[in-house]
Amino acid sequence: MRTAKIAVLVSGGGTNLQALLDAEQSGILTSGRITLVISDKENAYALTRAANAGVRTETVTKRDYPDKKAFEARLVSLLSDAGIDLIILAGFMRILSADFTSRYPKRILNVHPALIPSFCGEGFYGLRVHEAALKKGVKVTGATVHFVNEIPDGGEILLQKAVDVLPGDTPEILQRRVMEQAEWILLPRAAELVSRALTENEQ
Ligand code: GAR
Repeated sequence: MRTAKIAVLVSGGGTNLQALLDAEQSGILTSGRITLVISDKENAYALTRAANAGVRTETVTKRDYPDKKAFEARLVSLLSDAGIDLIILAGFMRILSADFTSRYPKRILNVHPALIPSFCGEGFYGLRVHEAALKKGVKVTGATVHFVNEIPDGGEILLQKAVDVLPGDTPEILQRRVMEQAEWILLPRAAELVSRALTENEQ
């Protein structure tokens, strides 16, 4: 069976990208192959992780384009030239337009560090999500992998996992626990599920 071609979009450290790369090595991700990593930040450590794994990288920074439309047009051209089947947003800190998302129905996944519909939508990203969870005093948080549509964090939920908030947690400590106990497990699993569905449908 053909393997799905996966592009991972990143902006930062890339621990979720690393989880995907490791899943390919360990045989958790077999139906898809990470063939392209695109960063919107030129100094993102995720780029080094991709290069270390021998995966092609591209950097597309917003300031090099006159507007969002032109920025996204570059993304589309890279994705289509590479024949990408599935796009995974792994710590990609930009909201994609409806014009972009509508090109890839059920073909864009995102990992969000909370149990959607809590602490999600515009303005909730990275550490801010955990700051908000601690401020609210929730005792349980977690992570969500969902399909991406035109509503920020509003697409169909695929997988979720709860993680305890513990006394003394800082945003950084909580972020790490949510990554370890939820994100790094769910994202590879979701990548495999969707890749398998995409390639099976071709039989
Ligand atoms: C992760 O916690 C991811 O869920 C979050 O940013 C972090 C990126 O870390 N994404 C969002 O908040 C998107 N709304 P990483 O670069 O180490 O994978």
